[in-house]
Amino acid sequence: MKRIWAKQATKKINSTIKLCGWINTKRSMGEIVFIDLRDRSGIIQIVFVEKELDQESRQTIKEIRNEFVVEIEGIVNKRPLNQINKNIVCGEIEVLAKKITILSKAKTPVFEINNEKLQANEEMRLKYRYLDLRHERMKDNLVLRHKITKTIRDFLDKEDFLEVETPILTKGTPEGAREYIVPSRLYPGEFYVLPQAPQQFKQLLMVGGIEKYFQIARCFRDEDTRGDRQPEFTQIDIEMSFISQSDILDLIEKMIIEIIKKTSPQKKITKIPFPRITYKQAMTKYKSDKPDIRQNKNDKDELAFCFITDFPLFSPTNSKKGLTSTHHPFTSPIKKDIKTFVDDPLNATALQYDLACNGMELGGGSIRIHKRETQEKIFKILKLSDKEIKRRFNHLLNAFEYGVPPHGGVALGLDRIAMMLANEKNIREVIAFPKTSDARDLMMGAPSEIPAKQIKESNIKIINEKK
Ligand code: AMO
Repeated sequence: MKRIWAKQATKKINSTIKLCGWINTKRSMGEIVFIDLRDRSGIIQIVFVEKELDQESRQTIKEIRNEFVVEIEGIVNKRPLNQINKNIVCGEIEVLAKKITILSKAKTPVFEINNEKLQANEEMRLKYRYLDLRHERMKDNLVLRHKITKTIRDFLDKEDFLEVETPILTKGTPEGAREYIVPSRLYPGEFYVLPQAPQQFKQLLMVGGIEKYFQIARCFRDEDTRGDRQPEFTQIDIEMSFISQSDILDLIEKMIIEIIKKTSPQKKITKIPFPRITYKQAMTKYKSDKPDIRQNKNDKDELAFCFITDFPLFSPTNSKKGLTSTHHPFTSPIKKDIKTFVDDPLNATALQYDLACNGMELGGGSIRIHKRETQEKIFKILKLSDKEIKRRFNHLLNAFEYGVPPHGGVALGLDRIAMMLANEKNIREVIAFPKTSDARDLMMGAPSEIPAKQIKESNIKIINEKK
């Protein structure tokens, strides 16, 4: 007999079925034992009456405890009227067991799985994440995340985008954070850098004629972790050729509306089209470039999206170096400032935009520079030496000499979107295996020391070795 899911049993009244799953709870009432069996689809009640069971199963039923993995065969019955529970998927049925087999025994779990109100502290949950993932809330969050990425893929496929993977072992691209580096074994003293974003690759895909690209892209940034930040996170990364800023904003708006319709129809969007507010207006009116413009901040289902546009091209830095790109150095100035941005950089406006919702930045993007001279001027304003420009960006500048379509794009934080739709306050709740606030993976024990032989092979030396 083929195993079915608990929720499929609702359509099998009076049939014999086979279920597999975890013991969620076990209650003995004299001769009768009740088990709540849990699988990915939900919880189902199993009734064990001694006379219905074979000899082996009678023994097994005495042994089983919470979180044992079992296989059960039995007959699906409607529950008596007074025992119907409309709140759970299988609340109108129960299974009269004929046979039970233990597939795997379990130690007493380090925290309660079947009662989420008794939540363990987060350190324990992260160390035993495989147990934490058994909680309904965590499973629901992963299901939501899956639905979001599926909706995005379907949506962008319909709009003729191509999903392209870009390298993880690569060269740095400036997005404002420190980079994770990987020593090269074959080339002593040389390093790969993990991407903070696939920024340059997606631009080079435009040079390559792909025209409409997207990727559910893993990004890495060695920066302080916060409630909405992880060292490793996922972007919905998009780039398009021959488009204007409003084409991109229209596309994002349409995609966000589709995501909400398909995954979280209970949510209400405050205003469609999403208000488009300039950076100056936002700073004057809301004193924030990610304003919270909800009508009712106590309504957990209200989503007030807005686009912020016209960011300054450069921002002053504290260091003597002077200026930094407000977004990244590939962002184009607006047409009117193309001629003047070199002489008056602080007054130049960028073709840059962010998507904000309820006070959180969900994404950012820009129309890019596609002319070598303009790109070189930007690097010069950022005080990069010729040598440094050549070392870091020669490939891009060269590419710009072979016919470049005008292009632009955006990246949305997938984890942040999931967090918002799941009503979670911390990004860790929507990531299967996240890092702690001090960038550790408590379950795997990473980062960790590696054997001396491996260090030697990587051509690196450890200074300030731990005592
Ligand atoms: P930006 O750096 O603004 O732009 O990033 C885009 C979006 O990615 C999300 N994000 C993060 N999410 C979780 N943890 C982090 N540490 C983290 N850092 C960023 C945010 C943010 O809005 N290449 C450009 C995009 C472009 O120009 O197309 C970029 O990466 O939601």
